[in-house]
Amino acid sequence: MSKQAKNNVIDKYKEIIRSVGLKDETHTVEHLLTAYPLGDKQDQLVSQKAEELVTAIRDEPQNRSQLEDFMQRYSLSTDEGIALMALAESLLRIPDDETANKLIEDKITGAQWHDETDSAEKWLTHLSAWGLLISDKILSSSHSAFTKAFKRLGEPVIREAMVYSMRLMGRHFVTGRTIKEALGTAASAVKKNNRLRYSFDMLGEGARSWAMADRYLQDYHDAIDAIGQSASGDDINQRHSISVKLSAIHPRYSTRQRQRCLPELIERMTALAEKAKSYDIALTIDAEEAGRLLLSLEIFEGVRQQPSLKGWHGLGLALQAYSKRCLSVLDYLIDLAQTTEHRIAVRLVKGAYWDSEIKHAQVNGFDGYPVYTRKINTDLSYLVAAEKMLSNAQHLFPQFATHNAHSLVAVGVLAKEKNVSSDDYEFQRLHGMGEQLYTAAVEMIDEMESSACRVYAPVGQHQDLLPYLVRRLLENGANTSFVNQIHDPSIEPKDLVTSPKTIVSGLQSLPHPYILLPKDIYHNRLNSSGRDLEDQIILENMVNSYRAAKDKKYKISSIINSKVSDINSKNEEKAVLNPVDQGIIGHYIVASQSDVDEAYTHALQAQKLWCQASFHERADVVNCWGDKLEEHFDELVGLLALEAGKSYDDGIAEVREAIDFCRYYALQAQAELSGHKLMVGPTGEKNSLHYEPQGVFVCISPWNFPLAIFLGQIAAALVTGNAVLAKPAEQTPIIAHKATELFYEVKGSVPGIFNLLLGEGDIGAALVSHDKCDGVVFTGSTETAQLIHKSLARKDGAIVPLIAETGGQNAMIVDSSALLEQVVDDVMNSAFYTAGQRCSALRVLYLQDDIADKLIELLQGAMDCHYQGDISDPAYDIGPVIDTEAATMLHKH
Ligand code: FAD
Ligand code: 2OP
Repeated sequence: MSKQAKNNVIDKYKEIIRSVGLKDETHTVEHLLTAYPLGDKQDQLVSQKAEELVTAIRDEPQNRSQLEDFMQRYSLSTDEGIALMALAESLLRIPDDETANKLIEDKITGAQWHDETDSAEKWLTHLSAWGLLISDKILSSSHSAFTKAFKRLGEPVIREAMVYSMRLMGRHFVTGRTIKEALGTAASAVKKNNRLRYSFDMLGEGARSWAMADRYLQDYHDAIDAIGQSASGDDINQRHSISVKLSAIHPRYSTRQRQRCLPELIERMTALAEKAKSYDIALTIDAEEAGRLLLSLEIFEGVRQQPSLKGWHGLGLALQAYSKRCLSVLDYLIDLAQTTEHRIAVRLVKGAYWDSEIKHAQVNGFDGYPVYTRKINTDLSYLVAAEKMLSNAQHLFPQFATHNAHSLVAVGVLAKEKNVSSDDYEFQRLHGMGEQLYTAAVEMIDEMESSACRVYAPVGQHQDLLPYLVRRLLENGANTSFVNQIHDPSIEPKDLVTSPKTIVSGLQSLPHPYILLPKDIYHNRLNSSGRDLEDQIILENMVNSYRAAKDKKYKISSIINSKVSDINSKNEEKAVLNPVDQGIIGHYIVASQSDVDEAYTHALQAQKLWCQASFHERADVVNCWGDKLEEHFDELVGLLALEAGKSYDDGIAEVREAIDFCRYYALQAQAELSGHKLMVGPTGEKNSLHYEPQGVFVCISPWNFPLAIFLGQIAAALVTGNAVLAKPAEQTPIIAHKATELFYEVKGSVPGIFNLLLGEGDIGAALVSHDKCDGVVFTGSTETAQLIHKSLARKDGAIVPLIAETGGQNAMIVDSSALLEQVVDDVMNSAFYTAGQRCSALRVLYLQDDIADKLIELLQGAMDCHYQGDISDPAYDIGPVIDTEAATMLHKH
């Protein structure tokens, strides 16, 4: 790599960009409204011209692509559309006919067709009309149901027809299988229209291994050579260019791997950029997931500042208008362009990952969404950003990628108003989309007469197309997309081109009312809040929590009757070890038999009071315990890392699980268990059902989830009115102690209702065999569960219930319809995260022969780039097992 780049401009903006992302949507959209660039008159003019465009396009149905027709008819709001998407995503990668047949049958005959009589048939008829199926054979079955056709025509015919259809569908979005083929396609198109340019994108993204990343990188190098050698045009912005996805050329492109991937990606990108420079062609870095935004800017700047690239104005970046951070990123790019004295090409898009951003934020319990939740807010953001780009056209080369008539016309009008010459900016569209719109726009809109349009041109084989294809199908099939609505006769043209300002100004709620914040998605209970480890500050907070935990010298003992038992007692003291290096992190005092007796006495007394409280009152206490855990979130994650060797990801997931346990059980108890339910009385008698607590429960938990399992058992026992004597694993007493302390901070927690007894197996045995024990909850090995079972069975009197969760062999069975990258992600997660010690961790992987070799190769590649070590450093993915005994057992196995 040439000289280390100085990231000085991004350093000024990091905090600004970050904090803008954390603001709520209402605040951000209100700001957009004030910055809306079109006056009322202009606004009306844009809507009027855009409406004319829409009408003209609708008047020429013969020019629209059959895929557009098809996607409009069977949008993703229909089962047919979803079946089609599932087939498109999976069929072509299935190597064996048998599985392909089964998939087709499952997706087609399993769908709930709109029209019960023959709509499966209609669907096929439309596929045929689109030219996709072997039409005479399928059409001849037009009066029978699809299932019958399936049987009569025979599976091979249907399969071939489907494969053929899906191949055509994929090809619709691909310019060529090889760069040579794609350049040929581009050359013929340019011959017909000399304002066309191409940006070739070598398909492939989300590399899971170095082998994949190296292959994609080589593809880009070869493509730049091919594009460069055939490039023509005097100005770099008139020549064909290349688009690159960073996730394609590095298998671990994430903030946690920043130290490794930042220099490696700068080096890889610089090599590509130097090659592009040598041919004087432009290179744009695509925008991907929101979590990667800041890292992508650091990489971008690292490349831009390379001395070897001085004088080359071809480096560009895609910018997503659906991002709340869009405008602040733009400020940064303008500053970077000025500072480095290089024009930066900025491709303004709305953003292709909307659905997954929403889902990701919900699943991970983020505070808010990185993207707008209303489509119209994105449209508004697009125009505000467009104006800023055009106002800075001396520093940027503005590129406007859209298939939306209103956005397009508005940009054209703004450019004219700002006197930005058509050589100083361009429009862009995707191959297979928006062709009709651009043709009509150039013909009809004065402001766009001489506009140039660059086509984003994916190149590659079907195997690398899938994620891209899914995004395009989502885009074409979503009923909010302009490309989907433009052909929908039930929508008036004028309603398709209303100014975003008018619509947004009339909204009661600026965020989408149905897309609740991640914390509210369960409606009746709070979702636990998570932490976004792609945020460097949050990541640093986690590391600091670990350090803070490490700096403490813990000395703890049992908690009986809500009091910490005498720390200086004569009982034996044991060391607690850091599983990473076996260093001593603290000590605990082992409970004695008399501690056990004392705890039982207090528990019995407390339970009398506790069981008189209502389910609601107890639920309140347990709920508040969850809130307390949330208040101490980072501290708990740090402690889990220190005492249990949990990576920050695993620690976050565990704290969230503990919080969810509290809230879930609190809700369940109130909803399902409280009150008296009247039952039927067949002979006139009165039957009613109500629940009563059992008494004193012993809860024994393992080290693999020292917080979540520990607390889940206890929360369930407490909320139902029992008292608890809990014994955590001897390796992880500190985290249990912390959780117990937090319980006693909650108002309403009755002293003695939950007692913590620290020790090894003998304390567990003493608790279980005690004559006052009314029930046991245990998670751990089958052998210990059996010992407990025997101990309980030996008792006189009422049978004492045992609830046991023990280990087992968990298998994953993978057939050839699975997406291999997804399998690898899931295997890595299930088998190796939490050091492979989840009760449900994957132990045995069964693979269908047809895909086994390929999958094993990919999996080995992924394993090679996951790192095992001291998890206090976030660059390590996988921590140690708890102690040398556990490690020896694994090695033996
Ligand atoms: P419209 O129908 O007007 O807008 C659809 C878009 O609105 C969706 O894609 C989404 O961004 C947004 N949206 C949908 N629902 C909601 C909602 N409820 N709330 C908020 N927003 C919503 N995308 C990338 O992410 N990275 C890239 O690098 C990239 N490169 C591209 C290059 C080119 C040349 C083109 C044409 C597109 C590129 N895209 C990229 C894809 C682009 O994001 C989509 O094509 C674009 O969002 C579609 O917008 P539109 O104006 O054509 O359509
Ligand atoms: C995508 O890959 C075009 O970059 C955009 O969806």
